[in-house]
Amino acid sequence: MKKEREQWGSRWGFILAAMGSAVGLGNIWRFSYAMGAGGGSTFLIIYLLSVLIIGFPVMLIEFAIGRRAQTDAIDAFKKLAPKSFWVVAGGMGVLAAFVILSFYGVIGGWSFKYIFSYLTGGVAGDTGGYFEAFVGSPIEPIGWQFLFMGVTVAIVMLGVQKGIETSSKWMMPILSILLILLAGYSLTLGGASEALTFMFHPDWSAFGDPSVYFAAVGQAFFTLSLGMGIMLTYGSYLSPKEKLTSSAAYIIVLDTLFAIIAGLVVFPALFAFDLDPTQGAGLVFVVLPTIFQNISGIGAIIGVAFFVLLALAALSSAISLLEVVVAYLIRRLGVSRKIATLGIGFVIFLVGVPSSLSQGAVSIEVFGDSFLDFMDKFSGNLLLPLGGLIIALYGTWSWKSDELLEQTDLKGTAIAPAILFFAKYVAPIAILVILVFGMLNW
Ligand code: PHE
Repeated sequence: MKKEREQWGSRWGFILAAMGSAVGLGNIWRFSYAMGAGGGSTFLIIYLLSVLIIGFPVMLIEFAIGRRAQTDAIDAFKKLAPKSFWVVAGGMGVLAAFVILSFYGVIGGWSFKYIFSYLTGGVAGDTGGYFEAFVGSPIEPIGWQFLFMGVTVAIVMLGVQKGIETSSKWMMPILSILLILLAGYSLTLGGASEALTFMFHPDWSAFGDPSVYFAAVGQAFFTLSLGMGIMLTYGSYLSPKEKLTSSAAYIIVLDTLFAIIAGLVVFPALFAFDLDPTQGAGLVFVVLPTIFQNISGIGAIIGVAFFVLLALAALSSAISLLEVVVAYLIRRLGVSRKIATLGIGFVIFLVGVPSSLSQGAVSIEVFGDSFLDFMDKFSGNLLLPLGGLIIALYGTWSWKSDELLEQTDLKGTAIAPAILFFAKYVAPIAILVILVFGMLNW
């Protein structure tokens, strides 16, 4: 007998869980370093356009496929389009989840380490040197990565529904308030005008650089958790009467605000303290402690609060990543949830070890990037957009325009013609062109 599939407790439960997956290290850690390296405003503009023109339609299509199929990412394509090529999107999704979680666990571990450091009064003096000494150690970051993965595994093993739904309800508001306060403070440090120019004043010459498009589109997919079947799976726990359009809009607006406000925390302080925006993966771990150091008296308390919230946001995303792989293994291999979670959690941890080591302990480079950067680019900028492309093509080719509008609840809305046009023509062509140029300019 097949068990009745679980459903979300309420529409807000669904929206919050999807937000929990979307808002994570991608909004704070990945966004600021990708934007720093991508030249600021040019990256921001292309990222915002991608969110609107590519992210919104792809998210709607993912939700719609899930709600229609009422099953996981791979099974959904098998069910809706039996014996066809489309199922590769599901397979690639599982692969992407695996790769992303391998390095996500490393950065999640760093945030655990910083909580501990602030609790024990550790991050003092030269914050850049402190960070480098930490990631340059061959053992310590791996220990923290192991701990982060262990907590992720424990939550997924217990079943996620309650944990994610309820924790998101209080976590997101606190994290937003803290970010807004920090942004306000950071803007007073003396680097505000330089930061605002960097973030919002377009540098038209940079629009000719294909690598910025590659990075910005990849960031849009990564931060919205798109292109790998997570949103499809979350949509599958919805009952057919729930409306998708406004839910997707809430998720996208909130996720984008988080990223921009994180930028307003990081960049003003960065310019005030003369730090380098292009320093890569360590950016927030160097800039934020510099800010906290400057807040006399309560800096360490704010440091603890910030990294606790960052770690929680990272956990709710890591859980969604692990769940995709676990759900697949349980169905495919017929093993128990416990065995699947423990086994694959450990394998993903092992795959993440080279990423951890590549930050200073050992030189591991692939195509000129450190192993962590390579895994990050390979999954975020390549696998996810490719997965998104296949999902968009599936949605727009297998469903006639009218049916697509109906499935996505766009029918009769004012934005329907525009979104349909984006979904059918603009998004697929843009993704394809950007992927080809991005690959050529890796
Ligand atoms: N969206 C998450 C973040 O921004 C990361 C993520 C990517 C989670 C893909 C799930 C799937 O941190």
